[in-house]
Amino acid sequence: MMNRSGWDTFQWRFLGSRTIMTRDPRNLQALHATQFRDFGMGENRKNNFRLALGRGIFAADGDEWRHARGFMRPYFLTEHVKRPNIEPHVRKLVRSIETGPDGWTEAPVDLQPLFYTFALEVSCDIFFGLGPDELEDQSDTFSAFAAAFDIVQEYLSVRTKLGWAYFLWDGPKFRRAIAQVNHFVDEVVQRTISNSHSKGTPSPTFLDQLLASVPGHDPSLIRSQLLHLLIASRDTVAVTLGWTFHHLSRHPDEYTSLRASILSRTESDASSEHIRHVLLESLRLHPAIPLNTRTALRDTSLPRGGGANGDDPIFVRKGDEILYSAHALHRNPAIWGPDAEEFRPARWTGRRRQAWEFLPFNGGPRVCLGQRLAMVEMEGIIREIARRFEVLEPVMREGEEDGVARVTLTMSSAGGVRVRLREQRP
Ligand code: HEM
Repeated sequence: MMNRSGWDTFQWRFLGSRTIMTRDPRNLQALHATQFRDFGMGENRKNNFRLALGRGIFAADGDEWRHARGFMRPYFLTEHVKRPNIEPHVRKLVRSIETGPDGWTEAPVDLQPLFYTFALEVSCDIFFGLGPDELEDQSDTFSAFAAAFDIVQEYLSVRTKLGWAYFLWDGPKFRRAIAQVNHFVDEVVQRTISNSHSKGTPSPTFLDQLLASVPGHDPSLIRSQLLHLLIASRDTVAVTLGWTFHHLSRHPDEYTSLRASILSRTESDASSEHIRHVLLESLRLHPAIPLNTRTALRDTSLPRGGGANGDDPIFVRKGDEILYSAHALHRNPAIWGPDAEEFRPARWTGRRRQAWEFLPFNGGPRVCLGQRLAMVEMEGIIREIARRFEVLEPVMREGEEDGVARVTLTMSSAGGVRVRLREQRP
């Protein structure tokens, strides 16, 4: 829509409240960095998220946010997160794809749900200390938790779209799912407390650090920190992997050339660079969080969007909502050229990343904390699938429109990521 209108910033009013929509890099820089203190998450988002997730980094501004970020950041710099052991999870996913005697998968495989499970399991491993064996032992309980977590996210997403009227979307299903999620996390926390007492030595998980720092092991505080990390880390990774394989299955030449660099063992750095370009291109066309908001915390302005041509600063009143779209930004032909809509990983070769023109992970003080972890997880999956399968093809349903997105809190492929794969045979 923004490509057609030629406007990078516009505004509307509804029932007395004003919304400014923008994809202008100068406004994004102001919002996230130079005027960071003028904008926040806003009361709607905070109150909406708090019911289900409690108080945590995603629903905090000011000192509360600074405290949560300051506490979490060092953990993201530990080896545990910088070089996580994701191999067992990667192998489990890739082995679950079954092939017939001719090397082809017998029925279409929807990769999307596999990626959701993978991302949740990795996060539970890294942040809760629930390794693959423990997850296997409790597979029924874990599946029930994952299903309840889905319901919570669905409700949160609809509530977010309702803005100030978020509280209207509620009910026993939502409340039951919240209770189930809380129960699962509380049990993990209790077990960890008992184990650390019996072992006497803390293991280096995020949960152990949390337990050491939260006075009296306040269960609701611990639970909410963990849930905020889960919400940040599961769907974002899963949908990005989904879109990456969506694109690769539709671009067999790209898949073949990516596979060749992964298989050429001497060039592991080059293959990492190749994988990175594929992921960046996928994040450009399908940023996991395509649309986001901030609320003005005081009267202020943004650099662009005012005047007759939208080139002047625009006044922003306290309480105005700013909607910003990484999706629209990443498809702007003025930045990305006439082939902005095309999947072309080679565009990243030698391209300097302009911070405010490419924002899948946001920027400024609130930039995504898990960016590096996410790239490690996604690279692991791409490598292992490419090693095992030499052919990747899309499978479409009859009459299905290709590439339709489903936007909740994140953007996934509406029809899943259905593919056929052929294993490499000697
Ligand atoms: C492809 C994967 C990912 C993408 C595209 C992504 C994207 C984002 C974006 C756009 C934000 C800003 C949200 C906002 O301010 O409204 C964010 C924040 C955040 N992300 Fe990620 N994320 C990814 C994976 C992860 C992972 C694996 C973790 C690990 C826990 C993580 C942890 C966080 C945290 C803690 C924040 C909040 C930062 C703050 O408010 O200070 N993310 N992410």
